[in-house]
Amino acid sequence: MADVREKMQEYIKIVEEKLFSYLPKAENGQDIVCDAMRYSITNGGKRIRPVLVLEFCRLCGGNIEKALPFACAVEMIHTYSLIHDDLPCMDDDDMRRGKPSCHIKFGEEYALLAGDGLLNLAFETMLKETLNSDDTKSFIKAAYTLARSSGVQGMIGGQVIDLLSENSKNSLERLKVMDKLKTGALIEASCLMGCIIANADEEKLNAALKYAENIGLAFQIVDDILDVIGEPEELGKPIGSDEENEKTTYVSILGLDEAKNYAEKLSEDAVSALTVFGDDAEFLSELARLLCVRKK
Ligand code: IPE
Ligand code: IPE
Ligand code: MG
Ligand code: MG
Ligand code: MG
Repeated sequence: MADVREKMQEYIKIVEEKLFSYLPKAENGQDIVCDAMRYSITNGGKRIRPVLVLEFCRLCGGNIEKALPFACAVEMIHTYSLIHDDLPCMDDDDMRRGKPSCHIKFGEEYALLAGDGLLNLAFETMLKETLNSDDTKSFIKAAYTLARSSGVQGMIGGQVIDLLSENSKNSLERLKVMDKLKTGALIEASCLMGCIIANADEEKLNAALKYAENIGLAFQIVDDILDVIGEPEELGKPIGSDEENEKTTYVSILGLDEAKNYAEKLSEDAVSALTVFGDDAEFLSELARLLCVRKK
């Protein structure tokens, strides 16, 4: 696992340098929203999604330089989703990535706008790249994939189910649908975008989708587990938020042990989906396992 962590750090360095270069400068006095966007995006985070974009692109024989703007775009959308997720009208959480949440630092109105700003910046970034490139078809397909996965058929849809099911008991089936959308969708888009930019064939796209579906669900199960037994200091966000908001989670339905076993099974299913890539998929196999034992 040491190798995976090292490789992650290499990817994160590449992603962050580019990501921060896209942040807007205020030209007409709108400094506060630019500051809020910068605050949330430069504030760490595991950067799992952009790493998946780059690694799937590499694995499918693509040029990771081409995938980089798309990797940054998914991190912008993910960060916006976290800013909005923490707002008082959503989960009402005061800490994120080890610091006061965006609305605590800048106020709710600017946190809302910073989230909107990051969402727009993601599409601005992908469209600009498409305009300046000859890979028009694959770039549009990648951007379309992210657009769909972020919207009401994807992440936003999942957040809606999450809100609707507060204070009422969700079935395991409903919980799976919710998590496939709220968390799985962006993870799926990340894996697929990497493949699309590398012009991967159908077999590889299907394998990437299967891997993504499994790690996506495992990722949310572990997030639910950490909301119960995580160390807030290490996690960088409060624990007990789900219980406080009366959310149904894998832990509330299955209990801690069974939830953990389920996440492990999903992560092994994710590894099995990678056979088409042969030995070259070692990093992604290790990553699937690492995500199951993560502490943050
Ligand atoms: C947290 O995502 C929200 C979920 C979708 C479970 P991450 O655990 O990837 O958050 P960061 O980016 O590392 O802060
Ligand atoms: C949030 O799920 C998923 C999205 C932001 C789309 P959670 O509400 O469980 O995420 P955390 O635990 O606050 O990071
Ligand atoms: Mg939430
Ligand atoms: Mg939350
Ligand atoms: Mg959570």
